[in-house]
Amino acid sequence: MNGERFLSKENEALEWPSDILNHCIVGDARSVLRRIPDKAVHCIITSPPYWQQRVYEVPSLIWGGDMNCQHEWESCGFLRTNANLDHPGPDGRRTRGQEAFTKNTSYVLHFGDICKCGAWKGQLGLEPTPEMYINHLLEVFSEALRVLRTDGVFWLNLADSYAGSNQGRGTKQMTPLQDHNVGTCWMTEAPSVRLPEGTKPKDIIGIPWAIAFALRAQGWYWRQWIPWLKLNPMTESVRDRPADSLEVVHLLTKSRRNYFDMFAAKAHFGISRSWRSGDMLLFIDTYSERSEVKHYATFPTDFTSLLTEVGSSPKACPRCGTAWVRSIENPRIPQELRRGVKKTDYHPQYYGSGGNIQRWRDANPPIIKDWVPSCRCSDNSGAGKCIILDPFGGTGTVAVAAQKLGRDFVSIDLSGTYSNAAALRVRNQAVQMELEI
Ligand SMILES: C[S@@+](CC[C@H](N)C(=O)[O-])C[C@H]1O[C@@H](n2cnc3c(N)ncnc32)[C@H](O)[C@@H]1O
Ligand SMILES: [Zn+2]
Ligand SMILES: [Zn+2]
Repeated sequence: MNGERFLSKENEALEWPSDILNHCIVGDARSVLRRIPDKAVHCIITSPPYWQQRVYEVPSLIWGGDMNCQHEWESCGFLRTNANLDHPGPDGRRTRGQEAFTKNTSYVLHFGDICKCGAWKGQLGLEPTPEMYINHLLEVFSEALRVLRTDGVFWLNLADSYAGSNQGRGTKQMTPLQDHNVGTCWMTEAPSVRLPEGTKPKDIIGIPWAIAFALRAQGWYWRQWIPWLKLNPMTESVRDRPADSLEVVHLLTKSRRNYFDMFAAKAHFGISRSWRSGDMLLFIDTYSERSEVKHYATFPTDFTSLLTEVGSSPKACPRCGTAWVRSIENPRIPQELRRGVKKTDYHPQYYGSGGNIQRWRDANPPIIKDWVPSCRCSDNSGAGKCIILDPFGGTGTVAVAAQKLGRDFVSIDLSGTYSNAAALRVRNQAVQMELEI
């Protein structure tokens, strides 16, 4: 029975600053995370700014480099032609557009500054090299690792970028369509832009994998990656390769023993048969819910709900925070079925051994009984709540899903506009939930 599987017991009576838990906070992910106690969070779900894809309306910050350096900044610019407009960024910067094009303009955008010590002053995601970007993400994720419980789960959504191809280095005059399609990487003529050794124009950079390797080296357990297929991807003006239609959701954990509720996924996908060991998670894009404030990189709400339910429990111990787990009874497979099953048995429907056993399992699925405590605290009423964190919370899709599912949340975003929009969504939902009771 799963209920007997004791998850790790964490710090008791964690001291949370009063302005963080269940708030949508305006701030830099690094500094807000530093105010969260160790091992306090059950599940992290986040989608950071991707590399070289969007300009957010956020202030420049200093990342990396030598803290003792006096920093002499050198401008890092990008040559753009045919600017397109959707929501304007600071300093007249523009993000990839849906609404209008300005034709035949060519200008240098100033995206940040670099110092010889390696420091970057600018937005996360606009660094001139993928290595710099990854190192800056690691600054955030080292704090994330500290605040996550030992049995915690980290879902990280990322997309890839291309080394400039027809929109890239040497392309002086892009067509409006090419320019519209800056969803891949737009490169510059600025000498500051350097790609990893051997990267040629048109190469995939491999950002999601590079980050996964870096996170693994940072101490995370890289447990799985889940494909998020975009059946209706951004149009790309390329004819010599398929369109980029995949994002990745990495599953990372802090230890070998983590909370994980596959049965929540089963319920989510409406699977009535037993959960097969070969089953996997796969996201197929449906829609993104729009908030009052336009944000072009939102999570679809149903993915976030699924990740919340699989990565955290509706009940937790109020003393030590350990999640309750499902109590599951697996019906015993009859002996006669086991006999005669060879390791190499192959069934057209089920790869691997034991097609008969699998069919029997499908007909006799595990019986889910109830939620049960998984720590030894004597006063464990289950009234505690799991805490979901999104350090790049945007307009609060993660916070809203957490609240709806009875979890506590922390949503951080450097943009006041987005954080306030997130707070509004949370408040509106709270009112809605009150009315429904
Ligand atoms: C891909 S979006 C996340 C969108 C979010 N998943 C949603 O559904 O709305 C990345 C977000 O990171 C924010 N951001 C950029 N730099 C940040 C920083 N240093 N700290 C916190 N948030 C930051 C941006 O404002 C942007 O909203
Ligand atoms: Zn410096
Ligand atoms: Zn407990």
